Amino acid sequence: MKHVIHHLGGRGGERTLVVHGGAGDVAPERRPLHAAGCLRAAREGARVLAEGGSALDAVERAVRVLEDDPLFNAGTGACLNEEGRVELDASIMEGRGLRAGAVCALAGFAAPIAIARAALEDGRHVLYAAHGAARFAREKGFSPVDEAALVTEAARAALAAAQQGQPATSWAGGTVGAVARDASGLTAAATSTGGMVNKRVGRVGDSPIVGAGTYADDEAGAVSTTGHGEGMIRLAVARSAVERMRAGSGAAEAARAIIAHLSERLGMTGGVIAIDREGRFGLSRSTATMSWAAAGDWGEESGV
Ligand code: GLY
Repeated sequence: MKHVIHHLGGRGGERTLVVHGGAGDVAPERRPLHAAGCLRAAREGARVLAEGGSALDAVERAVRVLEDDPLFNAGTGACLNEEGRVELDASIMEGRGLRAGAVCALAGFAAPIAIARAALEDGRHVLYAAHGAARFAREKGFSPVDEAALVTEAARAALAAAQQGQPATSWAGGTVGAVARDASGLTAAATSTGGMVNKRVGRVGDSPIVGAGTYADDEAGAVSTTGHGEGMIRLAVARSAVERMRAGSGAAEAARAIIAHLSERLGMTGGVIAIDREGRFGLSRSTATMSWAAAGDWGEESGV
């Protein structure tokens, strides 16, 4: 099946941050809510940049806002696995030293992106899984939360619909993510998700996989992905899009081309946001919706 690819780009600026709120099919009446949630996150991230914070700090902050917003499939409000449990995936990367940190199949913590950042800073390993990720989080001073506090009525309804073979309505789908460039030219990307509704226990998607869900390289740009994680992993979508920018594509064209490739090569859908080393940004989706927002020293934009 051939999917229609929607894409757009923006000129951005020296300090620019872009977020996405997940590729999916949000009901028309709920789309403004999702765009507003993305704009809140983008403004928070842009404020970090304006105050002299790094692109890494900015993407972590923006993703944290989206994790805390129950509208989105990450942190609080994340989708549920086949047993009705929350298992979270997240990763973060900076493009100068190519440092990265990630957690996957993590239960009982509200802010996996902060734990991924702690892994990046710790530097010994890139990716921590399941109980090892929870142990690492506790060792770094993060407090576990009652899992019930992360579960929303919308997530329960989406699971019930999936288990009855019905499409979920008003569900963000995807994942959340952010990419940024700061005034020093540092690029960064971060991605966080509950994964897929009704996923098997232990299933890990693209979001915590460096190169699939998240990638940043100051020599080229930064990318965060959303959508069908199995396809994103098989095509190493984030790194592939960054390599398109390294080869000379603009962020918008790199975003368009990789989502077209996902459709043509694997017949799968998804979306990406991208930023190049000059701060120009692009986004692309083959799904019905992907809420997004961009903000920086040049202004702000948002859409679905
Ligand atoms: N892209 C999110 C997932 O498939 O887990």
